[in-house]
Amino acid sequence: MSEKVVISGASGDLGRRVTALLQQEPGVELTLVTRTPERLAQKQAKGITVRRGDYSEPESLDTAFAGGDVLFLISGLNLGRRVPEHRNAIAAAKRAGIRHIVYTSVGGVQSGNPALSAKDHYQSELDLRESGLAYTFLRNHLYAEIVSNIWIAPAATTGRLELAAGRGSLSPIGKEDIARSAAAVLRASEHHAGAVYDITGPELLTVAEIAKIGSDVYGVPIEYVPVTAEERLAYFDSVGIPRTYDPSMALSTDGHMWASDELVTADVSQAEDFQAILTHHVKQITGRMPESLRSVMERVKSVRYDQIGAVAQ
Ligand SMILES: NC(=O)c1ccc[n+]([C@@H]2O[C@H](COP(=O)([O-])OP(=O)(O)OC[C@H]3O[C@@H](n4cnc5c(N)ncnc54)[C@H](OP(=O)(O)O)[C@@H]3O)[C@@H](O)[C@H]2O)c1
Repeated sequence: MSEKVVISGASGDLGRRVTALLQQEPGVELTLVTRTPERLAQKQAKGITVRRGDYSEPESLDTAFAGGDVLFLISGLNLGRRVPEHRNAIAAAKRAGIRHIVYTSVGGVQSGNPALSAKDHYQSELDLRESGLAYTFLRNHLYAEIVSNIWIAPAATTGRLELAAGRGSLSPIGKEDIARSAAAVLRASEHHAGAVYDITGPELLTVAEIAKIGSDVYGVPIEYVPVTAEERLAYFDSVGIPRTYDPSMALSTDGHMWASDELVTADVSQAEDFQAILTHHVKQITGRMPESLRSVMERVKSVRYDQIGAVAQ
């Protein structure tokens, strides 16, 4: 009998990668849920079920999740407002008879973590633990592609990498390794019920070490210049980056939607070593070591951040 896997938030980069890994999988029947089904028309043409669903419209999720066994709940982007959105998805999953939710959380989730992103995920993890459904958390650490293209690429032109991350370290992880981990968990969800995985790269790095890797890959000197959180916020104000996330905000020139409160609190979280976690969970789940930051950087250095997924597939 086939396992019916529903992927919600399916048109984004991670959703597409996991779909590509599972769509040929014997014993897996996919349903893709997205706010924009037209973006998945090619998948529909290949016979995969595509349904419209929006975490902010609970009634849309009842139809979207119907018939599923396992839900891959890809967290939304609506920082500060996504906790109720995820609650809508959890409640709809229960109504639809889904038995297990695999949730994309973030590295360093703890009650005291100052990162705004981690606060949302902390609450959504609590909500899932209390839902009565089986759950697996994939605490995805910072994308190596963000480190490569959002931190290092601009620093390679100025020679300076300014962050409020102090001497803290983290373990960047490539998106394809995250996708492979998610696909492996979704293929055999019953073996991962109750598991909390820190999906980290193969090495723990300070920003100074990351700047050194960037210097090697780009062939130019890059110096890490630690700044205070206030200085970092003032810099973002000066270049017109809004303080708070707004779903209708325009993409930045590097292909992302940034709000400075999210970025700076993530730096502070790193400075306080909330993200200083290194695990072998990717190897345990997928059977192979994750790609190094250096290798990801070499691969994506000439690609705009929002085009990386299209180039990968
Ligand atoms: N660990 C990290 O470094 C890191 C970095 C950035 C983001 N993230 C988190 O990881 C998630 C997946 O990353 P990604 O690279 O695939 O991001 P992405 O390409 O920007 O895609 C964002 C995803 O969020 C979904 N989404 C947003 N609001 C939604 C809503 N109201 N209802 C349903 N779906 C909604 C979108 O689904 P549809 O458009 O298909 O509806 C889309 O799949 C992100 O959404 C974010 O929560 C992690």
